[in-house]
Amino acid sequence: MRVSIADVNGEALQQTVAEIKGKFPNVDLLAVQVDVSKYEEVTAFKERVFEWAGEVSVVLNNAGICPTGGKSWEGLEQWRAVIDVNLIG
Ligand SMILES: NC(=O)c1ccc[n+]([C@@H]2O[C@H](COP(=O)([O-])OP(=O)(O)OC[C@H]3O[C@@H](n4cnc5c(N)ncnc54)[C@H](O)[C@@H]3O)[C@@H](O)[C@H]2O)c1
Repeated sequence: MRVSIADVNGEALQQTVAEIKGKFPNVDLLAVQVDVSKYEEVTAFKERVFEWAGEVSVVLNNAGICPTGGKSWEGLEQWRAVIDVNLIG
């Protein structure tokens, strides 16, 4: 089985790689650092996955941010980031 994963956070990505390899040592894994709010990065990732895997059966997009309370919700930039990642991404 082939699985490709992506995350904007390199550390989180490597943690997920280790978890998958620990549980499913025979899985063929492609891990790429991608920001889902950047159209070019997502397109490049998609092309790389198709080149690597040939076809894709299942896609799961659960990248998301959810600033909680206080200053993190202040400012237009924060709202734009939430829209860019959670909605457009
Ligand atoms: N955990 C919950 O109780 C809960 C409840 C309702 C909704 N959600 C939503 O479900 C999704 C997953 O939740 P979770 O608890 O696993 O969150 P999480 O924070 O553990 O995982 C989200 C992952 O998305 C990645 N990410 C953030 N911005 C990104 C970007 N721009 N590009 C690529 N990757 C990016 C983060 O690095 C992180 O690894 C989120 O969208 C969250 O808002 C979660």
